[in-house]
Amino acid sequence: MDNYGYFDDGAREFVITRPDTPWPWINYLGTDDFFSLISGTAGGYCFCRDARFRRILRYRYNGVPMDAGGRYFYIKDGGTVWNPGWKPCRTPLDSYECRHGMGYTRITGEKGDLRCSVLFFVPPGERCEIHRVTLSNTGKNQKRFQLYSFVEWCLWNAQTDLENFQRNLSTGEVEIEGNILYHKTEYRERRNHYAFYGVNRKFDGFDTDRDTFLGPYNGFDAPEQVLAGTSGNSTAHGWSPVASHRFDFELGPGETEELVFVLGYVENPPERKFSAPGVICKTGALRLMDLFGTAGKADDAFGRLRAYWAGILGRFQVRSGEPRLDRMVNIWNQYQCMVTFNMSRSASYFESGIGRGMGFRDSNQDLAGFVHQIPERARQRILDIAATQFPDGSCYHQYQPLTRRGNHDIGSGFNDDPLWLLFGTIAYIRETGDFGILEVPVPFDNRPGTEKSLLEHLQVSFDHVTRNLGPHGLPLIGRADWNDCLNLNCFSDNPDESFQTTENRTEGSRAESLMIAGLFVVEGKDFAELLERIKAPEERIGEVREAVRKMETAIREYGWDGEWFLRAYDFNGGKVGSRENAEGKIFIESQGWCTMARIGAEEGLCDKALDAAERLLGCEYGLVLNNPAFSSYRIEYGEISSYPEGYKENAGIFCHNNPWIIIGEVLASRADDAWDHYCRISPAFIRDQRLHKVEPYVYCQMVAGKDAPKPGEGKNSWLTGTAAWNWHAVTEYLLGIKPRYDGLLIEPCLPEGFGTYRVHRVFRDAEYDLTIHSSAPGKSRFIPYEPGKHSLELFL
Ligand code: BGC
Ligand code: NOJ
Repeated sequence: MDNYGYFDDGAREFVITRPDTPWPWINYLGTDDFFSLISGTAGGYCFCRDARFRRILRYRYNGVPMDAGGRYFYIKDGGTVWNPGWKPCRTPLDSYECRHGMGYTRITGEKGDLRCSVLFFVPPGERCEIHRVTLSNTGKNQKRFQLYSFVEWCLWNAQTDLENFQRNLSTGEVEIEGNILYHKTEYRERRNHYAFYGVNRKFDGFDTDRDTFLGPYNGFDAPEQVLAGTSGNSTAHGWSPVASHRFDFELGPGETEELVFVLGYVENPPERKFSAPGVICKTGALRLMDLFGTAGKADDAFGRLRAYWAGILGRFQVRSGEPRLDRMVNIWNQYQCMVTFNMSRSASYFESGIGRGMGFRDSNQDLAGFVHQIPERARQRILDIAATQFPDGSCYHQYQPLTRRGNHDIGSGFNDDPLWLLFGTIAYIRETGDFGILEVPVPFDNRPGTEKSLLEHLQVSFDHVTRNLGPHGLPLIGRADWNDCLNLNCFSDNPDESFQTTENRTEGSRAESLMIAGLFVVEGKDFAELLERIKAPEERIGEVREAVRKMETAIREYGWDGEWFLRAYDFNGGKVGSRENAEGKIFIESQGWCTMARIGAEEGLCDKALDAAERLLGCEYGLVLNNPAFSSYRIEYGEISSYPEGYKENAGIFCHNNPWIIIGEVLASRADDAWDHYCRISPAFIRDQRLHKVEPYVYCQMVAGKDAPKPGEGKNSWLTGTAAWNWHAVTEYLLGIKPRYDGLLIEPCLPEGFGTYRVHRVFRDAEYDLTIHSSAPGKSRFIPYEPGKHSLELFL
């Protein structure tokens, strides 16, 4: 197979063996509030806290050639100019390797007896990237060459940086002092932050003006200064500020040079911004240079990063006998869960970092994959999210991480949103036993004085559904449910309006959602259990149980189509996802949620729905979202029918909802089917990397479905609820390690061949080493929580 890389599980790395991957294969650096995206050729950018408002490096989405801009090192060796990451010069290398690891990327290139290896990482707790460069003469002769660094600054606001050129081209300002090149655009006015690119060695030349470095008509692949072996020693005034250092080297055979570059971001207190009029107070930069400015110090910081990740991943480790499953559980799925928790859907190579903030439903779902890693951060996230809710239980669909305020542009009206707060909070309490979070006062719409306990937020979330039922007693869908593109009240014939924000008919809608109905039953039961556990008033518990029972009845009566669950009722009360429809006869979401809710299980409805899902939605690469795909735009359905067949919500394989079916299969004790569904979408099982196109080590949101021109081609990698949902499905349902309020419930559901497997699970203040002999699904054992170390052997 024409592949581009392989897993090195021992090192917890994916190794890219050739730089021309079919799409840039990226990694994320950063754990706290400074984050970087870095591709296998060192493309990408970094930002502090908010990818839109505090963008540090400039990056051009949609550029030609793609993935232009990043942290580039150029080597000029005689007449040859090359980069260790191949791009931007694309000079053929004698060898190339990129190792994407946990929070770091190491790129090594070799050309003409010179090896250059660059380790990129963000040290935990600090706001900088370290670029640790090692140059070695691998030949037999003396070598004289030059090394250049290069980054291009973004003028902070990534949106206006792309738009407001009449201003931008006049604002750029820099300072040069010691070995550090500073970027201070707008520092003279309201900004108290600056960026810098420093190095631990005296440079032989520098540039801070892009046109001087590149030459006004050159691309990154032909910088004028590098080609000439010179530096312009330029000071940028307006136009486009950059940072480049030059070093003239001479290396004997076998000799090595090491440099440490620090690319950092510093905020100063407003009253201590300046050290002299107009001059940045630089102590923050100097502190970072001092912290990391020797190879030894950089190595220590890297050691701490490795230890950090070993600690996080070590909280859940499995040895199952199936290396691909272990690889996902122990390494890549957990890693991706951290990334989605940090980024939500804001910054990836498919999300520009300026469009979407933190999603209400997205962030709640992400919690399910993250809460076991750093529960305290999950706690804060829940409180932040809950504060963007309105008193009636509805909520802002998104909020900005910098301000934590709801995003007015998109507003509310997605009627599944409130239920996800139940989902996220319950996952958190099951993991931590922290019932105290329910008592924390949280405002509505961030308005001081409106605080109510988190428990009340959960209650208004639940009530929001029961207060918004349609003619069949099923939940009204609002603008959309989980499927943002099933816009049943939108009726848009105007290409200039967004499907996401338009609701052209609000009055008199009968549009109801079976997806929300199933979600309501699952979350409602869990909510009732929580209320019982905290000894809430009987009456309230009774109301919750009664509402759930009614919903189950409504689904059975009005939500069953004969062989599967309906998807919805449209504006006029017509069926969606029914055999009566010519297209879109069956949808995955309601099969997932209604089988997870076990609606009509005893009469065989769940088995039938799961069979139908496989029969009508199944293909080699997973289950598509709906079938048959919509072949033309349907104004009454909205964005879903705007996509060509087989893509995205129109019959793409939406990897996010495949695990819903996996869980449905597990609850029906259909272990083989559950496992089969998992293997089809799990990255570790990808065979054809060229076809898959995007990173083969993380889940992508969507793989082209059976109706697409190229089934199996992935898109929208990294930032997707798929990460958390697969984690949830695999660890809790296949491996069967379920956190519960008072302990762990062990309930595996794996195909026969698995036999015995081992799990190491840190749970609160306890560590469990479990050896599980599983013979048949459906058997379980409850292990009460008890602090300390426990080694247990279970026969199930
Ligand atoms: C996409 C959805 C996404 C939505 C969010 C749509 O264009 O197809 O997957 O949830 O935008 O804004
Ligand atoms: C991606 C969005 O982030 C998520 O909120 C939504 O549920 C899915 N697309 C499905 O439309």
